[in-house]
Formats: sequence, C-alpha cells, structure tokens
Amino acid sequence: DDTDKGGFPHFMLKEIHEQPTVIRTLIERYIDKSQYCVKPLPLSFDPNTIERMAFVACGTAYHAGLLGKYWMESLANLPVDVDIASEYRYRDLIQPKQGVFVAFSQSGETADTLAALRRAKSENQHIVSVVNVESSSMARESTDRLPTCAGAEIGVASTKAFIAQCVVALCLAIYVGRQRGTMDAATEHDIVTALLALPNQIENSIHHIEPIQQIAYAMAPANDVLFLGRGRHYPIALEAALKLKEISYIHAEGYAAGEMKHGAIALIDGHVPVVCLCPSDNLLEKSLSNMQEVMARKAQVVLVAEESVCQSNKTAHHIIIPSVHPVIAPILSVVPMQLLAYYTALALGKDVDQPRNLAKSVTVE
Ligand code: G6P
Repeated sequence: DDTDKGGFPHFMLKEIHEQPTVIRTLIERYIDKSQYCVKPLPLSFDPNTIERMAFVACGTAYHAGLLGKYWMESLANLPVDVDIASEYRYRDLIQPKQGVFVAFSQSGETADTLAALRRAKSENQHIVSVVNVESSSMARESTDRLPTCAGAEIGVASTKAFIAQCVVALCLAIYVGRQRGTMDAATEHDIVTALLALPNQIENSIHHIEPIQQIAYAMAPANDVLFLGRGRHYPIALEAALKLKEISYIHAEGYAAGEMKHGAIALIDGHVPVVCLCPSDNLLEKSLSNMQEVMARKAQVVLVAEESVCQSNKTAHHIIIPSVHPVIAPILSVVPMQLLAYYTALALGKDVDQPRNLAKSVTVE
C-alpha cells in the first residue's frame, strides 16, 4: 500500500527502498528488453525538425531536467535550455519556431511549472510532460505525456520520483538520439544493458548503510556541507545538497567542481565536510584534482567513487559506488546521497517526512 510505511520508520526511507521497483516498472513501460532499445515514444512531433528543447521545473525535478540536458545534448545532439519555472514564466524568451517544452513534475500541479507550461503552449511550443500524477493539470494540458510511474510519494523530500524522472529523461534522450541518427545502435544497446542491471545494483547498495550512517553522524554537527560534481554529476551534487538542507536544515551547497575555486573554496576549513562525487568517467582526474585542492585546505572529504579509486585516495571517509556505465552512473550515485541526507537528519532528530516550512506540492505562487 502506497499510503502506509510498510514497516519502515519513515516514508522517505520506504520510498528510497522502492526505487529498484520503480525502475523495473519503467523498464517494462519504456524498454524493449529483447532488442535492448527504448520502445517508440508517443511523441506528436518529429525529433528531426526540432531546433531546441526547454526543460522546465522546480526543486528536485529541476535537477532531473538538468541531468536530462547532459543526456539530450550528448546522445541526441540537440540543444536544451534548462529553466527554473518561476524564471521561465516571466522572462523575455526567444522561442524557437520548432521548440519542445518539457515540464518535469512529480505532482503535475506546481503553480510555477504549470504557468510556464501554459505560456509555452500559448507560444506554440510542443508540450511534453514528465509527470508522476497522471490525472494532474500538467498531464491533462500536455500534448504528449511520459509518465514516471513512481506511485504515490509521501515524503516531502523527493526520492523515487526523482529517480523516475531521470530514467524517463534518459529514455527520451536515447529515443530522440535514435530518431535523429546521432546515436548508434551499439551505444543504445550498452546503455540499455546498464539500465537493466540498475535495479539490482541499487538494491545491493541500499543494504550497505553502515558507512553512510557513520558519515551521517560525523556530518551532523556541521554548519556547512559542500557537494562537488562535474558533468552528469553536477546535477547530482545539487540534488544531494538540496536533500540534505531540506531535511537536516544544515546549510549545503552543490557546486560544479571546477567552479568551486570561484567561491565555495572560501568556506572550507577543517570543519566543513566536502562530498566529492568522483565517478570513473572521462572527468575523473579533474574531479580528483579538485578533491586534492579541498583536502589541502583541511576539508573533511567524503569521496564517492568506485572501490579502486577509494583505495588509491586516502580521504577521511568514502562511499563506494559500483562500477557502472558512465552514462547511467548518476542514477546510481544519487541513492547514497539520499541515504546520507536521511541519516544525517535522523541523527539530528529532525522530522524527516515533514520538514519545517516545506510543502509536498507548491500550488500557489
Ligand atoms: C516542492 C517539493 C519538492 C519538489 C518541488 C517540485 O518544493 O517539496 O520535493 O521537488 O516542490 O514539485 P513537483 O511536484 O513539481 O515535482
């Protein structure tokens, strides 16, 4: 039952544990498992005639949109503007003649995202919604719908809905890339193979919570926490910081690792934990070098990386992530970040499911 805690102490923890099931549901819906490809998506436009896309959202859903941009631009060679809905709705926009507006939203009712969608519609953009609540206003007012099928999400801090938005954004990028001829079948095969393995990998990693609990206890007294990530892990750094601040009330910032020396580095001393997301991709060396820079300033580093990387870099703490296709890696590495926020909030005795001042769905401006 979606509305009871199913034996978990909090909805948030239950929803974190539901993520493998959510991904399996999305695989059934969006993946052709015999052909190792994304099933044709019900889109009312031809991806070959599209000039640009706009991914628009609020909060956690915005981070899914930002990650979607990295995928869409690399797999489909299509430029994407990612916007916070409250900015998009009032800004002077230059709308492309053939543009696609994609709303990302769990509830489908967030006032700013809905207003942005209505504006885009009035300006002749194709409207796609990546929403969880299929009967929502956004779903009803869109031409094309890509449901995220995550089931009811009760915890105010979004977890399973985020992962679902990411999986759908990836499927959209793969499909559009295939249609536009910018991604070969072998690449699609490799990414889909990795996606099929993801539910089991998340299931295994969710049960290794002890190191994360220890880090959470060490992190709980902090006033500031930084999360650094590059490329596809920049949106994950932002999401990790948002999760932590939402439920623990610790000031947290996500930073593009390369941008850290333009500001956030001024915060660093021996009391500031810095979580360095260092997946084994083409930017690993750059990410590790940023980590060395913060270590030189005595930061308490939490290295999030594959086992071999953790072994060859001695840091205060580490979280091991399984070896996985680099395109998929962000979907996997967000899970320990959710657990880290959860256990830190718990260590501080905060109300994990109902954090102060926040609402599950912001239906007024
Ligand atoms: C609120 C919630 C967040 C959510 C955001 C956008 O701030 O607390 O968890 O990410 O709204 O909501 P939506 O329903 O549009 O995804």
